[in-house]
Amino acid sequence: MNFKEKESELFFHTYKRLPLEVDRGEGCYLYTTDGKKYLDMFSGLAVNALGYAHPAVIKAVDEQVRKYTHLSNFFIQQPQLQLAERLLSLSGFDKIFFSNSGTEAIEGTIKLVRKWGKKHNKKIIFGMSNGFSGRTMGALSLMDKEKYRDGYEPFLPNFGSIEFNSVDDLNKKVDENTAAVFLEFIQGEGGIVGVTREFIDALKLLCEKFGFLIVADEIQSGIGRTGKLFGFQHFGITPDIITVAKPIGGGLPVGAIIGSKKVADVWTYGVHGTTFGGNPVACAAGIATIDTVMNEEFLKNVNDNTTYFVSRMEEFRIKFPVIKEVRVYGYMIGIDLTIESADIVDQMLQKGVLVNSTAVSVIRILPPLIAGKQQFDEMLTVLHEVLSSQIVV
Ligand SMILES: Cc1ncc(COP(=O)(O)O)c(C=O)c1O
Repeated sequence: MNFKEKESELFFHTYKRLPLEVDRGEGCYLYTTDGKKYLDMFSGLAVNALGYAHPAVIKAVDEQVRKYTHLSNFFIQQPQLQLAERLLSLSGFDKIFFSNSGTEAIEGTIKLVRKWGKKHNKKIIFGMSNGFSGRTMGALSLMDKEKYRDGYEPFLPNFGSIEFNSVDDLNKKVDENTAAVFLEFIQGEGGIVGVTREFIDALKLLCEKFGFLIVADEIQSGIGRTGKLFGFQHFGITPDIITVAKPIGGGLPVGAIIGSKKVADVWTYGVHGTTFGGNPVACAAGIATIDTVMNEEFLKNVNDNTTYFVSRMEEFRIKFPVIKEVRVYGYMIGIDLTIESADIVDQMLQKGVLVNSTAVSVIRILPPLIAGKQQFDEMLTVLHEVLSSQIVV
């Protein structure tokens, strides 16, 4: 039995896995057991901001593992304190809670919003069409995509969905009963689609009028991925709550709810908790990641390489009519095609470059933040080859 057959026999069939047996990773590259090398341009779905085996992460993990790997949240733990301090001072927010994952940060935020809403007599929570919040029942209640929801009904009561970027739908649905509006300012799973200025302006006006909470889901877009600490910072708005996860554990599992003063006193002792959330090794790896990323020179590189990529895509757009649109928010990149993207992504994999397919027609590229011009060039050479062969067909 080969490793693919074994996986199929052992696991629930929830993941269509890649046909690669990875031996190890280094920087932006993965090395498989059959001796091949792959350029990883989706970095564990936006988790591996510093790529693989980054020396700062290795050092932080090694040092922490030797001290303690778990204590429980009965204890005050230095790695948690230090990661909390960084996230709060960088964001200017007031309070933090550590979870294990993105969906768990969303779930906790729903609870926080409900408690806040009870006090303010506001019940309804909105998510956005085409959004992605995770796989727990609360997260699914925020979402509208049948692909993820089908068969899991009934969902939580008092939830609704607003059409992403529809000012009309927003104005129609949001009122004095609204407790919160959750949104990804740049939808990731939805195909790398940014919120519009009109939608943000309307949301701000409604928020001033009705006083609901705005929750920014920065699980995919946060911690430097868009060239700024958070994606929402590109849109001239400050939310009340931020959810983060993916890169903040430096490749280990940790998520967080970051709250402004408005919600700082909602939770009291014992009303929310977790056994593993804020694991000290994950927090230590997260500190190393944030200290490396949140550095002027590092982010300048991300922004310079983004500019370079955008300029190179001009020639692609002219040459390949199959490219409908290229949407770039730093290292969150969507190449929207007139055809399904899965086949293109598969052909790129055959040629040693890993990118991702989402929203049917979009090639989603989420490079590690350490990727430079060389990696973008390598990826584009392969994309050029694949799109050229597409035209011939
Ligand atoms: C925007 C967004 N929110 C929430 C989640 C869920 O995070 P997790 O998979 O860690 O539960 C994801 C994961 O892809 C995401 O991209």
